[in-house]
Amino acid sequence: MKREQFSSSLGFVLAAAGSAVGIGNLVAFPVMASKNGGAAFLIMYAVFVFFICLPVMLAEMSLGRHTRQNPLGAYTEIGQNRAWRTVGWMSVITPFMIGVFYLVITVWIFGYLAKSVMGQLNELAGPDSFDVFINSNELFIYMAVVIGLTFAILQGGVKQGIEKAARVLMPMLFIMLIALVIYVFTLDNAMLGVKFFLIPDFDKLTGKVLNGALAQAFFSLSLAMGILITYGSYIQKNNNIVQAGKMVAGLSVLVACCSGLLILPAVFSFNPDIQLSELSESSIGMIFMFLPKIFLALQADIGYFGASFIASFFFLLVFFAALTSLVSIIEVPVCSLMDSKGVSRRAALYTLGGAMIVLSVISALSFGRVELFSNLLSYGGVNKSFFALVYDIFYETILPLNGFLLCLFVIYRWKKHNLDAEISQGNSTFAGSVLQKYVNFSLGTFIPLILAVIFVNTVSTIFFGKNLLF
Ligand code: PHE
Repeated sequence: MKREQFSSSLGFVLAAAGSAVGIGNLVAFPVMASKNGGAAFLIMYAVFVFFICLPVMLAEMSLGRHTRQNPLGAYTEIGQNRAWRTVGWMSVITPFMIGVFYLVITVWIFGYLAKSVMGQLNELAGPDSFDVFINSNELFIYMAVVIGLTFAILQGGVKQGIEKAARVLMPMLFIMLIALVIYVFTLDNAMLGVKFFLIPDFDKLTGKVLNGALAQAFFSLSLAMGILITYGSYIQKNNNIVQAGKMVAGLSVLVACCSGLLILPAVFSFNPDIQLSELSESSIGMIFMFLPKIFLALQADIGYFGASFIASFFFLLVFFAALTSLVSIIEVPVCSLMDSKGVSRRAALYTLGGAMIVLSVISALSFGRVELFSNLLSYGGVNKSFFALVYDIFYETILPLNGFLLCLFVIYRWKKHNLDAEISQGNSTFAGSVLQKYVNFSLGTFIPLILAVIFVNTVSTIFFGKNLLF
């Protein structure tokens, strides 16, 4: 069967931006930036995106387009040995497992969306409503809907499913984001928030902050998850990979910045005396515990109906962002199964979907409902649930390792000249350019080195309770 392709470069850009733009950009980034130096953080973040992440991104896209394969196939075909095949397997299992916990988070967002639409804002803003919600039975109804939607998109295939969804959802996401920014700017004290977000404080840029910024940039662009190899395998040969990569990176940074102009003014109009240290660093705490209080407080101004409307609008925005990321991550194992076993998309989806549902249900039950899953293991001096274990192993630990191995693979196994040749197709100015030299040099030297350091430090911090760097 002929491999499906995106209909144009724009189709790829929107699908990849859909993957990159997620709760990381919308919520984690604004909080992190405002706490850690404002514009100074923003500048460093953008530098990391373009100087460290972009080369990795180009490498993944080229590898995919060259081999016309999923990550397992790409590593197997070029690697030609067992060791690289094992890395290929890791690049498929990792997104599958990240999909398991990202699905659970997407279900929570969808649940909050549904409850806002039903006018249950009062309930959402209650002190322990999040704990009650994630352990409720209705969660499984929302899970069924999210799984149904995700699978319906994936079942449509590359052009009619993934690309079409991105073409509809991404422009809507941008418009909704801008509309919400305009709205929060009309609130009292909004400018106070803008100030906290944008005033640079270079003293705050410690090693720890820079490490956090890099990790955030890296993972926010969906790197090392096999996604860009897979989406890359659907790009046409005459499309310009460099231009597309720059656009995806630019869109991701742009959304993160706009989101800062949304979240911080909202926080400061809610409480002008708030100390930034009160804001939880985790997106989960922010989305599900803090923001509902802000929405509820809006009712003094615009009534309960108006406040519910704004909350629904916001959760819809976050839901679109999460859904397109979820689709991209599940496409990796789906594509791998189709390529390697020659099965149909439907068969691949049912097989993987079944396994994913089981694991997601276990994750959803690991917040106190089932003792065994809730306190599964203890390491680094902390008791961990099944959900936390999956997060720690696959998101925190294996991602930097995969990134490290990918750089080595592309430069030392596949070789620079092959990478150059692939990028040059559809981009006649790449050969001999400064960018070419930079991409070759960075991918073979300091980028893998940085990723290796992050990997070792994460293992030491999470599993042994010892941070080696700070
Ligand atoms: N870019 C996503 C985010 O910011 C990260 C991600 C991508 C997670 C794809 C899962 C799947 O949330």
